[in-house]
Amino acid sequence: MDRKPKVTVVGSCNIDLVVRAPRIPAAGETILGGPFFTGPGGKGANQAIGAARLGADVAFVAKLGRDAFGDQAAANLEREGVRLDYVQRTAKAATGVAFIVVDDAGENTIIVASGANAQLTSADVDSSSPALVGADVALFQLESPLATVIHAASMARAAGVKVILNPAPGRRLEPELLATVDVLTPNETEMQLITGMLVETLVQVESAARSLLAQGVGAVVVTLGAKGALAVTPAGSRYVPADEVAVVDTTGAGDAFNAALAVALAEGQPLVDAVAFANAAAALQVTKNGAAPAMPRRAEVEALMGKENI
Ligand code: RIB
Repeated sequence: MDRKPKVTVVGSCNIDLVVRAPRIPAAGETILGGPFFTGPGGKGANQAIGAARLGADVAFVAKLGRDAFGDQAAANLEREGVRLDYVQRTAKAATGVAFIVVDDAGENTIIVASGANAQLTSADVDSSSPALVGADVALFQLESPLATVIHAASMARAAGVKVILNPAPGRRLEPELLATVDVLTPNETEMQLITGMLVETLVQVESAARSLLAQGVGAVVVTLGAKGALAVTPAGSRYVPADEVAVVDTTGAGDAFNAALAVALAEGQPLVDAVAFANAAAALQVTKNGAAPAMPRRAEVEALMGKENI
């Protein structure tokens, strides 16, 4: 490809309020935590920044509040080279915020106060149509209103744009949405929520994925954390292992994976190669603190894959 691949992300933009703690507290329990930091986040914004750092021309369709967090998030996206033409501001709600606890093993729990993200409408998508129909890949998550995601995914699909849906946070999905998806990227928990099927073994994961193919999804790539990912298509399935790394913070690992998958598919790479690229990006992401700030750059991913001289 002699131009940058074009990725359009429709999704959320948050400011993350993060506290490190020895462990995740139980219900009703107070514990003393460690360091606190704030940073840019939101699955949509993380994926947009991740794709930009990996070399894509990225447009972002999102809604922020008219507040200091919105200013901070917009300035960060601009610094990262993400196109802001379709990032709108509203006075009706605050910029989205995520409350995150990360334990000593790097595992996290997250609660999102959606705020302005919940105000992203189908009309906003209509006014962003040049970015959607002109993309190589359109990338979605589920931190935006479902009706908006369905509308945008249908628009992209109708224009022949490859649609990737990262179904996070997990929930049951409408058949209307599944039918628009070229590549669905659940983790194991999300897979269970979407299909209602047991996914404790690779065989179970594959049969849950096949149930989604039967509903019109083009391919299912199930992320398996440190174990890598399983890609399931009508032609067969391939397990793609991940590199072992020292985990600091798993927040945003799925976002790094989806950003890299989107860039590789937008470049025309075969699915299994794209999954290997995405595994490497996610492995690097978890070696640093934070969501968007930890997104890896292209050279780091290629170095991990041993491709720096190719
Ligand atoms: O995937 C990680 C992200 O989930 C965080 O940045 C947080 O904002 C939530 O959207």
